[in-house]
Amino acid sequence: MVARVFVSRDLPGKALQRLAASADTQIWDQPRPPSADDLIAAIADCDGLLCMLTDRIDAGLLNAAPELRVISSYSVGVDHVDVEALNKRRIPLGHTPHVLTDATADLTMALLLAASRRLNEAEQFVREGVWTPQQRWEPSMFLGRDMRGANLGLLGLGPIGQAVARRAAGFGMRILGWTPSGRSVPYVDLASFDEVIEQADFLSLHLALAESTRHIINAEVLQRMPRKAMLINTARGPLIDESALIVALKNKDIAGAALDVFEQEPIAGDHPLLALPQVCVTPHIGSATWNTRCAMADLAVDNLLAGLRGETMPHCVNPEFIA
Ligand code: GLV
Ligand code: GLV
Repeated sequence: MVARVFVSRDLPGKALQRLAASADTQIWDQPRPPSADDLIAAIADCDGLLCMLTDRIDAGLLNAAPELRVISSYSVGVDHVDVEALNKRRIPLGHTPHVLTDATADLTMALLLAASRRLNEAEQFVREGVWTPQQRWEPSMFLGRDMRGANLGLLGLGPIGQAVARRAAGFGMRILGWTPSGRSVPYVDLASFDEVIEQADFLSLHLALAESTRHIINAEVLQRMPRKAMLINTARGPLIDESALIVALKNKDIAGAALDVFEQEPIAGDHPLLALPQVCVTPHIGSATWNTRCAMADLAVDNLLAGLRGETMPHCVNPEFIA
């Protein structure tokens, strides 16, 4: 029998055509993402689900889909999935590591440079016509910070953290890193968590979101960071206690932040973070290049098809619970 699968967003590239050639494939075709109820209705009689990080996958959803036996997430992070609930049903969960590593590391460097050179303020200055003949060029206009010789602190040294380290080494930064596993990686001087946060001129987060990492950047940590420090986050919003970050930025306990991810996405237009000029923001676009999103689609489809055939997925989150 041909497997039935639901895909919760249309994806760039040709991967979904390949999926449709081997499975009865339904693709959510509305401009808005499916709600929880839409998802429940869509997967009621499906064998497989290809979901996004915006879909909450929990026991309630699984209960509504008795036939479901494979889930493939179009993301590297799987904090939107209750993996324990999947384990109970022995449903394998696929994800898309590695193919998005370089794109996400590139965006991290873009945010690091944007924050250090005040790009958002400088661009606004030009666009709003404030750049007048009286200020054609000023010795101290928009002074930023040097990369060379600055300390880059990395929390998390998985593939993305390592790719950021390689790039930062090319800029002449000194790189300090902490990882829960304690494993050393190229270009990075391993240090304790305390050393990293106390010495980083730029602190960049590359950790998965879990109970142990939620609000790992809290009021107390922000107090111990250098006053000149800038915080960069291309991982997950809830790694940072945003209320504490707002206080720290307002008090000038740290100098700035560049954020691609937020505790609530989308962040509200009137959110106090957006009122601070020393904050640079992008809308969760770490992996957003054409080639990367096509590669993620290919891998997500490969994971789904392997799971449906009862084979080992190329990248499975919970292999030990499937056998
Ligand atoms: C993006 O945030 C991802 O987890 O792929
Ligand atoms: C995290 O999953 C990473 O790729 O670093």
